[in-house]
Amino acid sequence: MTSNQDLISTIAAFDLKAYLADRQPKVEAALDAAIRPGYPDTIYAAMRYSLLAGGKRLRPILCLASCEAVGGNPDVAMPMACALEMIHTMSLIHDDLPAMDNDDYRRGKLTNHKVYGEDIAILAGDGLLAYAFEYIATHTHGVSADRVLRAIAHLARAVGADGLVGGQVVDLESEGNAEISIETLMYIHNHKTGALFKSSVVGGAILAGATELEIEKLTKFAHNIGLAFQIIDDILDITATQAELGKTAGKDLQAQKATYPKLWGLEESRHQADKLVAEAKTILAEFGDRARPLQALADYITDRKN
Ligand code: FPP
Ligand code: MG
Repeated sequence: MTSNQDLISTIAAFDLKAYLADRQPKVEAALDAAIRPGYPDTIYAAMRYSLLAGGKRLRPILCLASCEAVGGNPDVAMPMACALEMIHTMSLIHDDLPAMDNDDYRRGKLTNHKVYGEDIAILAGDGLLAYAFEYIATHTHGVSADRVLRAIAHLARAVGADGLVGGQVVDLESEGNAEISIETLMYIHNHKTGALFKSSVVGGAILAGATELEIEKLTKFAHNIGLAFQIIDDILDITATQAELGKTAGKDLQAQKATYPKLWGLEESRHQADKLVAEAKTILAEFGDRARPLQALADYITDRKN
């Protein structure tokens, strides 16, 4: 059994920067190859505009790292990794629409509807969503159909009314009401953000043939880092600049959104995020060295500046 001190020094020794420098370009190349320009030109251009606009690629990288954490070959999970980014991207395209958050900037660029118009932006989101599932089904090789089906079902649930869509609905309904309860805030974040984090981690593990116990532990790990991610997002909305974020800063206050810093204060929010990440890393202690990338990624979530 690894002691906490051993765990901390092992993780500290892991070179996350080198790991990301290896993984991020691979994910970029895979995304570029997954959706090529095509006819109708406008829709493919709009889909590629947002999909290839950069970003941390956290969900794909978590998916690949989780596949490795249970002894799988990460190449097997690359189609699912790409699908996760397609879905994340489409959710942001729709979130930025005038009917929702009405935002002009995303990932340091004009939002999709600002460039292509609302009609095409809606359709670009729809196209990415449909293709994400097609892509996993048609491009995942070397895995049994049962596992592919299970990963797809997990992802579909994470996207629908019991996942992202549900979280976004409660978020929209809570706008202008900064007095919502902590339970409602948790619901929003566990669904709007947490669900896709969970599918990223669990999906990679399912494709690798993880045991039920491993899946259970990885689910808890993902739950914690998803929540920590959102707490940090709320903090950054207050403390970071637009240039750092690549999107408008200070929007939560402006929209009178309930946030963790509002409920707990900045210091306590940071403390809660750190606690969730520490717990997440401990959950993976018995996975051994193979889980070091996942543990280091958990740290990255709270240390990030955008
Ligand atoms: C950003 O939140 C938005 C999301 C994380 C998800 C939004 C979900 C939808 C629009 C549902 C999409 C539909 C399907 C089918 C998945 P935010 O506004 O708090 O963050 P931001 O500051 O980055 O915009
Ligand atoms: Mg938004």
